[in-house]
Amino acid sequence: MITEYIKVTPQDTEILTKAGEIIRSGGLVAFPTETVYGLGGNAYDPKASEKIFAAKGRPGDNPLIVHVAAPEDAEAFAYTNETYYKLCRRFAPGPLTVILPKKDIIPLSVTGGLDTVAVRCPSHPVARALIKAAGVPIAAPSANISGAPSPTSASHVLHDMDGRIEMILDGGCCDIGVESTVIKIEDGVCTVLRPGDIIPRELCSVIPDVRVAAAVTDPTAAGDKPQSPGMKYKHYAPASRLVLLDGDREQFKEYVNSQKGKCAVLAYTEEIGNFTRAFVMDIGASGDAHTQMKRLFSLLRDTDSLCADVIYAHLPPKTDEFLALYNRIIRAAGCDIVKL
Ligand code: TXA
Ligand code: MG
Repeated sequence: MITEYIKVTPQDTEILTKAGEIIRSGGLVAFPTETVYGLGGNAYDPKASEKIFAAKGRPGDNPLIVHVAAPEDAEAFAYTNETYYKLCRRFAPGPLTVILPKKDIIPLSVTGGLDTVAVRCPSHPVARALIKAAGVPIAAPSANISGAPSPTSASHVLHDMDGRIEMILDGGCCDIGVESTVIKIEDGVCTVLRPGDIIPRELCSVIPDVRVAAAVTDPTAAGDKPQSPGMKYKHYAPASRLVLLDGDREQFKEYVNSQKGKCAVLAYTEEIGNFTRAFVMDIGASGDAHTQMKRLFSLLRDTDSLCADVIYAHLPPKTDEFLALYNRIIRAAGCDIVKL
């Protein structure tokens, strides 16, 4: 298949109409969102979701997120409730995904056989224009090959999906850089299944009782039956071994500088001059969680071309602000952590 790659703005009605038509008729279009690029197909068409799983090489029991242009559009395929609308009034459109009971119209192939469906209303203007042009909700996982870092630019998508899908819409780099916060609500308790840019403290302003699933910070706690199937898979892994160092900056510098092989380091901006023999990549200032989130996946992809024996990075703090970064990087490292 020839993949059409097109630069697009929200005003490019002709391109968006064509992309919407591809989705409505069962094809796949990758598109930008404020978090990461999505790989979109018609959420009502089981064949489209099968194509999504095939293009990504994704296990069929890992469900897809269904994207809508407005929160109330979820009524067509999910049983909503007052808490959902409260959350939407505060956070939609934006990087929040809410798990709701599904209606029959959503095929089980979209939800990985579950009786719930994940709903998200993205804020990126191209994503919103595409959903409107398609006229159907769009099922979309991140547009990477399963297991690879999520794509934060259209060139990442092209690298993974060229020849596998009908179209890639290039709307520039994603602002946030990690995927949306995924939550479920049960008996008045909100559980964060995947942390993102919307942090637990912010959710507390709408639902006072917010908990973080154990598997967010400890993937081995996921067990055989995790609450969110995506929790159990190895994710975001670069080609080289990634090792997280748990210690202060001085210990980090000494450890990296004492290594023998060909190594790369994801360093804080303040310490990029500290390393004598490692290839240094700037992940952002030590206290700047937003910049670090925005750069992480792109830097992990960049390390693939270095053929390093090992990549070192700091183990982030487990605070609200760094929770998404912590969650993604420990998975990328396969929990390979060295205590300094
Ligand atoms: O920011 C995002 O969420 C991006 C953009 C494209 O919107 N999408 C994304 O989708 O990250 P994906 O498929 O890569 O991740 C979806 C996550 C997985 O961890 C999956 O297990 C979880 O959401 N999920 C989906 N439906 C679920 C359900 N019914 N119950 C529990 N977890 C669910
Ligand atoms: Mg993904």
